[in-house]
Amino acid sequence: MKPIRKAVIPAAGFGTRFLPFTKAVPKELVPVVDKPVIQYVLEEAAASGITEAAVIVSDGKDAIRHHFAPVPALYDRLRHDGKNDLLESLEAIDGLMRLTYITQTELKGLGDAVLRAEEFVGDEPFAILLGDTVTTSSCGVPVTRQLIDAAMRAGGSVTALERVQKALTKRYGVIDGTDEGDGLFRVKTFVEKPAPEEAPSNLAIASRYVMTPEIFGFLHSGKPGKGGEIQLTDAMRALCAVQPMFGLEFRGRRHDIGSKLDFVKATLEFALARPEFHDALADWLKGLEI
Ligand code: UTP
Repeated sequence: MKPIRKAVIPAAGFGTRFLPFTKAVPKELVPVVDKPVIQYVLEEAAASGITEAAVIVSDGKDAIRHHFAPVPALYDRLRHDGKNDLLESLEAIDGLMRLTYITQTELKGLGDAVLRAEEFVGDEPFAILLGDTVTTSSCGVPVTRQLIDAAMRAGGSVTALERVQKALTKRYGVIDGTDEGDGLFRVKTFVEKPAPEEAPSNLAIASRYVMTPEIFGFLHSGKPGKGGEIQLTDAMRALCAVQPMFGLEFRGRRHDIGSKLDFVKATLEFALARPEFHDALADWLKGLEI
């Protein structure tokens, strides 16, 4: 497999689950403590060896571009005030990687968002990281890097997998596959939102992917499904019939910030992990009458 240098970051969706906040502000800019979700996503990509990303945006999402653009007047002020730590943290954002913005004019689903990046990706395998989901690694290797390493070893596309409660499979796309050991599964097919009694597994597709460029052919021929959307999972199902496709039960957790409850949980978890907040927040939480 060719090296994986490029990533596609879908960030065009309406974010209806996070209304009313997302009426004017993209959900990808929801902060977890002091950084917007999409900054965590790009930091994960950069730490995984990605050097170029296409961010898929829609009208009204210019604030995402602004977040990653330099602000000379602010930098001058921070330099003048001797706030070098802040200045460095902002310059680090500018230097993360080369970013291209692609507009998805009609919100026709995740599959359509990825298809907008066909020309950007070209003939290379690439990563997809959903712009509204943060991951944490429990082994020191960023989740996208875990996927890239697995794709290199296995020689095929790899999707991140997360175990979910069997009773909740109706909310997820799950795999039907065989265990190859070390968290890797060979995917036979994907089943969208199965009832628990019909679910072939409780291994759910989890917001990070490494795909071969052949996925684009299947996105082109994909028929719009529920709500007129082109589903990425449908194209992945078609791809796994002609190419080896794997799933990796990654080491770590994912936090879907597009869900209000996950957002609140992630905010507390990430704040507790910060030494400057840990003790004060833990004391305050203990004092809450729950
Ligand atoms: P979601 O399904 O979570 O996004 O897609 P959504 O449609 O904005 O969410 P709700 O259900 O209305 O709250 C996961 C990712 O794919 C992007 C979203 O921006 C999000 O980061 N996406 C989704 C697109 O880029 N284009 C689309 O047409 C749909």
